[in-house]
Amino acid sequence: MSGSAIVTGAGAGIGEATARMLSERGHSVIAADVSAEALTWTDGVEGVTPFVGDVSQERDNQLMVATALDAHGRLDVLVLNAGIARRTHWTGDDAIEAFDRIMAVNARGVVLGIRHGAPAIAESGGGAIVVVGSTSGVRADPERFAYDASKAAAINAARAAALDWAVKGVRVNVMAPGPTMTAILQGGRITPEHLDELTRNIPLQRMGTPEEQAEAICFLASPAASFITGAVLMCDGGVTAQAGIFPPPRA
Ligand SMILES: NC(=O)c1ccc[n+]([C@@H]2O[C@H](COP(=O)([O-])OP(=O)(O)OC[C@H]3O[C@@H](n4cnc5c(N)ncnc54)[C@H](O)[C@@H]3O)[C@@H](O)[C@H]2O)c1
Repeated sequence: MSGSAIVTGAGAGIGEATARMLSERGHSVIAADVSAEALTWTDGVEGVTPFVGDVSQERDNQLMVATALDAHGRLDVLVLNAGIARRTHWTGDDAIEAFDRIMAVNARGVVLGIRHGAPAIAESGGGAIVVVGSTSGVRADPERFAYDASKAAAINAARAAALDWAVKGVRVNVMAPGPTMTAILQGGRITPEHLDELTRNIPLQRMGTPEEQAEAICFLASPAASFITGAVLMCDGGVTAQAGIFPPPRA
């Protein structure tokens, strides 16, 4: 696997692990994030170029794609991973403000990424877009209606894009993580007690790692997935296999 790739939300967690993995596997990578500070890990890392931008802004998406084309002359892989999470209550004072921001990053950001990335990939002769969804986009979690809605929107936008861009050689798939050890869990204010309970409800009885998520993303981005488009690959330790009525057996 080699070529030109962009990863959004590459400053930390799953995005950072993916940018590192794509680069180790021969890609020239644009690591994009809204936080310049988060991108300092790219200092001195060969083949990884930092780009500071907000995925919810159209201009930043345009510049991000232009940066990849200027630097590498083509675009083969686009990983739309940037996302934010926050608890939201239907009657909370800040519920609609939070809804608008979460939708702007998690759903609008994906739409803008595809809008600007897909034509560049098509002009490069075809390639792959991987949207990072969530178990929360195919099921719902309590007290997270904004995040749940944003991830469902991102997933169906990706399916629609898979249909619209297939003829141009652009595959579009979703990798949907389950609970994974990264900073984003803090956005939902997960306490140690919550974490224990969460882990007990995961059939594999543990959280995922950013590297396990990156592997699933890299698979969908690679030629090994050449006949896969419009798919949603769950990487969730079995979470969404459950009906949820009975807890999974424990060791
Ligand atoms: N960690 C989990 O348990 C989990 C579960 C399901 C889905 N996900 C999804 O995986 C993706 C990555 O999550 P993570 O856990 O690695 O999160 P993280 O918080 O560790 O990293 C997210 C990165 O995205 C960046 N970012 C935030 N808003 C941005 C914006 N507007 N523009 C550009 N960059 C922005 C942040 O600065 C940060 O570096 C997200 O889409 C998230 O919803 C995570």
